[in-house]
Amino acid sequence: MSFISTSDLVKFDQNFATDVEAGLSLDPKKLSSKYFYDKKGDELFQAIMRMPEYYLTDCEYSILNRQKADILEAIGPSGFELIELGAGDGYKTKVLLEHFLSREVPFVYRPVDISQNVLEVLRNDLKNRWPDLAVRPLKGDYFAMLERLQSEQGQRKVVLFLGANIGNYTRQEALRFLENLHKQLDPGDQLLIGFDLKKDPSVILNAYNDPAGITAAFNLNLLTRINRELGGHFDLEEFSHWETYQPITGEAKSYLISRKEQEVEIEAIGKTFHFGAWEAIDVELSLKYSPFEIEALARAAGFQVVEHFYDDRSYFLDSLWEVK
Ligand SMILES: C[S@@+](CC[C@H](N)C(=O)[O-])C[C@H]1O[C@@H](n2cnc3c(N)ncnc32)[C@H](O)[C@@H]1O
Repeated sequence: MSFISTSDLVKFDQNFATDVEAGLSLDPKKLSSKYFYDKKGDELFQAIMRMPEYYLTDCEYSILNRQKADILEAIGPSGFELIELGAGDGYKTKVLLEHFLSREVPFVYRPVDISQNVLEVLRNDLKNRWPDLAVRPLKGDYFAMLERLQSEQGQRKVVLFLGANIGNYTRQEALRFLENLHKQLDPGDQLLIGFDLKKDPSVILNAYNDPAGITAAFNLNLLTRINRELGGHFDLEEFSHWETYQPITGEAKSYLISRKEQEVEIEAIGKTFHFGAWEAIDVELSLKYSPFEIEALARAAGFQVVEHFYDDRSYFLDSLWEVK
């Protein structure tokens, strides 16, 4: 493990340091999954999307691919800004972009992501594929970027929130998130949002517990990132990945487990954190929904459901909502 000296830490991300300090001071300890995505994290997530156990990507890809014409019909042909929250590498979105271009729909694509690396990869790829596509990426947190967009007062907005990213929030946080989103939108604006549905618990558990250990590497990379960017002294050999799924609440949860009692210094924070033997850090929630829960959530946040788009096995649901 390589350590960086305090003198190399001149330019660290203060929000990252503040969140890590707050999270590791909680009982139980918690780190936000939004910090998974540095360059290595982006690559590992792309490897996860290719895993046979990670059904989410294939399901959503097949929904968008098979039902792209119906989705466009439900959105309507008039021009819009296509804003994607947490765009990632846009693997599935490209299906929609290609279809919209082939139908000569006037739109501008605005991918929002906290990862500069993934936005650059996406922008370069789109430039090569479709040089005439108008792409205006926004680097930053979802709501900071939405606020910026609202102040620009452009065309009608169609927001994409794919990949079951909403599942990273608790039910209460998801409602607050969607109420907030609703406030940033105007009547006629729409949201296409992906939900992973409740299903055979073993299918869900396997998706986050692959035998090749890619999910484990993805989660442990968060500690590597703290080591590199904040001068952390985590020994990765002394932490392991653990996954659970609770079929009543629909919560799939990822933890990093301290394999022994240990002290870990983080230089940028100027603190040492104590970990008990087998103490867990909560690192990710992936909440699963029923269609009934999804409709209730839409109503509670002030949206009207326009149409549901399912894959063949009803594993996944992309739901189109509108602001009335
Ligand atoms: C699970 S990936 C999904 C990517 C893509 N939407 C898909 O379905 O394949 C989540 C993406 O959201 C981004 N992200 C996570 N939290 C974010 C936040 N609070 N603000 C902006 N982007 C965020 C990550 O950098 C990552 O690229």
